[in-house]
Amino acid sequence: MPAPILRRLDALRTATRPWILAGERIGVVPTMGALHDGHLSLVEAAKRTCDRVIVTIFVNPRQFNNPEDLKNYPRTETEDARKLERFNVDALWVPDGDQMYPAHFATTVSVTGLTDVMEGHFRPGHFDGVATVVTKLFTQTSASDAFFGEKDYQQLLVVRRMAADLDLPVTVHGCPTIREIDGLAMSSRNLLLSDRARTTAPVLHDVMEQIADGLRRGAAFDPLHAAAVARLDKAGFTGVDYLDLRAQDDLSALAAPTRPARLFAAAWLAGVRLIDNIAVGD
Ligand code: PAF
Repeated sequence: MPAPILRRLDALRTATRPWILAGERIGVVPTMGALHDGHLSLVEAAKRTCDRVIVTIFVNPRQFNNPEDLKNYPRTETEDARKLERFNVDALWVPDGDQMYPAHFATTVSVTGLTDVMEGHFRPGHFDGVATVVTKLFTQTSASDAFFGEKDYQQLLVVRRMAADLDLPVTVHGCPTIREIDGLAMSSRNLLLSDRARTTAPVLHDVMEQIADGLRRGAAFDPLHAAAVARLDKAGFTGVDYLDLRAQDDLSALAAPTRPARLFAAAWLAGVRLIDNIAVGD
């Protein structure tokens, strides 16, 4: 069934008031639209866990550090609403811009530490934008539960830290990355890849799996890293922002997986920035 599309805060509050009074568990799935099976897996998890599910679609200008990226970000609202029909979600929250950032808006939520590296380093201001909008999405929807993909693992940790630090009564659930059959992590930005770049894109995941295999066999990280960067270069990637081995709890850099660790990558292919991460270990 098509869910009501709510664009104004008063309409959202009218919808959620009876749910809150009934003590129902409200799950929120925050998205920027261009929904793919990764998002839909979050909706499924929310449906399994909660009495009510709200999917939010808002392309948040404050988390884009590059105006071209914001301009090119795919916007497919009609198609998104259609994809959600079979899930019978309770509402789509698609706020008008002024409902999120009214005139004179002057508040920023900023998480330190976890945001110093990787995406925080290469996209200055990105996580301030994410933490601010997610705080607002949590409070606007009165969510008890929120569902995020591990594809954006650093974002997941930042949101968890923010919710804990601000005593927001929201359980933040991390859900596994959903991949295409060739290993490419699903992402709205994949829509921006040309056919040619799309055939090359899975090499990113492939080199990460190669590093993980090497580490499992006891090889040193640095030569594995160098071979991976060379392979990406040969395949046609035009730059690697990072290809890091980091602790999965606090993102500190590791030379070897001496504690639960993940490999994180961001690389450029035909003008599109792809990110991915995988667990390293048994
Ligand atoms: O992961 C995203 O799509 C966005 O960063 C989020 C969490 C919806 C905030 O705008």
